[in-house]
Amino acid sequence: MYSEKVMDHFQNPRNVGEIENASGVGTVGNAKCGDIMRIYLDIDENQIIRDCKFKTFGCGAAVATSSMATELVMGLSIHEALKVTNKAVMEALDGLPPVKVHCSLLAEEAIHAALWDYAEKNNITIEGLEKPKSDIHEGEEEEEY
Ligand code: FES
Repeated sequence: MYSEKVMDHFQNPRNVGEIENASGVGTVGNAKCGDIMRIYLDIDENQIIRDCKFKTFGCGAAVATSSMATELVMGLSIHEALKVTNKAVMEALDGLPPVKVHCSLLAEEAIHAALWDYAEKNNITIEGLEKPKSDIHEGEEEEEY
């Protein structure tokens, strides 16, 4: 049911933890399944993501997608990181079962929430970044998978 990559990132998640004095922190949850994800970003003066850590209180797919998401955004500029969608995370993991797609949305939204926090702290606007929802369950029905 799960790809080898999903199992690998679930069993050996990369970048678990916190960043002290992070440039941006984003926390999102899904009220339907009760899972919560927090992403910490360390962003340098050139707006490049130097470090990224996560904590996930959630299912195995949420752990695997957050682990992969942290790997994908590391070293990217904040604008490039914005393009790391849940589809990109799923592709990098060789897919997820349909009932687990929402778990990858949690990863995308947590990154957006952390970028939003960074933008607010630095008084900047990141083009294309919309205010993230704290509960990704809202509006989930409208999403097309
Ligand atoms: Fe909700 Fe996976 S079951 S994040």
